[in-house]
Amino acid sequence: MSVRRLDPVQPESFKFSATNLKWAREQMKKFPKGRQASAVIPLLWRAQEQHDGWLPEPAIRAVAEMLDMAYIRVYEIATFYTMFNLSPVGKYFVQLCGTTPCWLRGANDLKDVCRRVIGDQQQVTEDGMFSWLEVECLGACTNAPMVQINKDYYEDLTAESFEQLLEDLRAGKEVTLGPQNGRQFSAPEGGATTLLNGTGKAGNSGGAKRKRSGAKTKSATGRGGK
Ligand code: FES
Repeated sequence: MSVRRLDPVQPESFKFSATNLKWAREQMKKFPKGRQASAVIPLLWRAQEQHDGWLPEPAIRAVAEMLDMAYIRVYEIATFYTMFNLSPVGKYFVQLCGTTPCWLRGANDLKDVCRRVIGDQQQVTEDGMFSWLEVECLGACTNAPMVQINKDYYEDLTAESFEQLLEDLRAGKEVTLGPQNGRQFSAPEGGATTLLNGTGKAGNSGGAKRKRSGAKTKSATGRGGK
């Protein structure tokens, strides 16, 4: 993991929008009096969402003041958890899983695409559309290799499908979330392989037949709470 430091270029101040301030106060009410510090992560997260996907230093300070916490304690949280971005990210922030299952299934090819199409890690493209970061397992190993872009997962990728995905996002086209190879969620590719009833078809206990809503959805979820 790379060293996590605050970005050298910081805005002068940070203020929650009226909507987010109201939301933050609601979060604080969820905890007993004197325990408002428990709301620190949701508040930092909302601050990050408001600030185009990264957490500036004045936001850390503002959250510390709101929660009556020592600045250093909030700073420690913001710099410890990798869910908080300490420098600007692209409109589409790609987190590429490089852990063993994804690595064995071609994560290095996806990394090459990132380097070629986006550039170095943690650098934002000139048009502000993309940045990327290699991260550890995102819990979708069955569908390796995969990336998370903003809040959405894109799985069963190849170098070609990943590059196409980036192109489509750049062009504002509709993209398919989840598996990119036609697989249903994390079901076996090509259909059920276990709990067959002797006819080659899945038995009643198999989940493979269960119909769920389709995964075709509009492009990556926007950042909320502005
Ligand atoms: S190893 Fe990539 S999602 Fe688990």
